[in-house]
Amino acid sequence: MYLSQLKIEGFKSYTEPVEVNFDQKISVIIGSNGVGKSNALDAVIWALGENNFLSLRCEGYNDLIFSGSNKAYATSEADVQLTFEENDEIFSIARTINESGSEKFLVSGQSVSDLNQYREALRDLGLGNARINLVRQDELTNFFSWGSNDRKRYVENFITTQESLQEVNERFAEYLDALMPGTSGQLFYDQSADCVDIEVVFPDKGRRRGIQLSGGERASTALALKLALFHTRPSPMYMFDEIEASLDWTHGHNMQDLLKKLSQDRQLIIVTHFQSTIRMANTVIRPDGSSWLKFHFIMDERLFKIYKCC
Ligand SMILES: Nc1ncnc2c1ncn2[C@@H]1O[C@H](COP(=O)(O)OP(=O)(O)OP(=O)(O)O)[C@@H](O)[C@H]1O
Ligand SMILES: [Mg+2]
Repeated sequence: MYLSQLKIEGFKSYTEPVEVNFDQKISVIIGSNGVGKSNALDAVIWALGENNFLSLRCEGYNDLIFSGSNKAYATSEADVQLTFEENDEIFSIARTINESGSEKFLVSGQSVSDLNQYREALRDLGLGNARINLVRQDELTNFFSWGSNDRKRYVENFITTQESLQEVNERFAEYLDALMPGTSGQLFYDQSADCVDIEVVFPDKGRRRGIQLSGGERASTALALKLALFHTRPSPMYMFDEIEASLDWTHGHNMQDLLKKLSQDRQLIIVTHFQSTIRMANTVIRPDGSSWLKFHFIMDERLFKIYKCC
């Protein structure tokens, strides 16, 4: 199953209706700063049932609705529709919210009464975990500076038993080695501090705790950990929002190789400014539906010329 189309209207910066088509394997979303790339991913997770304002990058439901600009009036509701395809079968889900906070939910054209039932219907469709499988760059670099309670709470969303901790650690070691060859590590409960932490063992530098890592090491380690945690909650798609920013050339390429491997089993939707990441996408999709260039927003002409070569 994969997300074949996203339709947005009135959501955050989207005043006009916009349709984005995605490829089954890897799709990229590119465009200048501030054009609405991250908002598009917010729209996807919201339509997948996300209700945590922090995850949706807002303070309240009003922030989800287009608040107006110099060129357009504010809209009175936000509407997001997702279409999925699986073996020639197509189905859609949709979520709408208006200014008074009242919501509507649709699953395959049928109205669903509330968020709980909507989430249940999504679980039945195999989309129950999809909203949590989004990685954002700031989350990666900040992960090891979060308060110990926040980090523990996040990890406990995924790990409930000793077996799942062991499973996560096996994957964590595998992904660490892929991102930083020769490196191993583990996630552990620090009983004395009542928190979770990680230990990474580098081939040359030896042992390091999370907080002792450099920016790039931190991003690679947090990515390895998040992917290992995601593995406990299967989902047909993963989304990444500018996760390469702090990686050097080698670590960036290691990450791209790992993403290519992950795309063999699931769909990846990637927001990026990096040419080499853009080149990974199989499809070439434009908002008008033509398919010779990767999906992009209106962008600075100079940027566009650079991206065009990918
Ligand atoms: N409710 C809203 N109404 C109107 N505009 C909004 C609303 N919420 C967010 N925006 C605007 O949406 C714009 C695009 O934000 P977004 O985070 O999607 O940018 P981006 O394309 O990811 O940029 P970057 O490359 O810098 O990460 C921002 O300028 C933001 O102010
Ligand atoms: Mg962004």
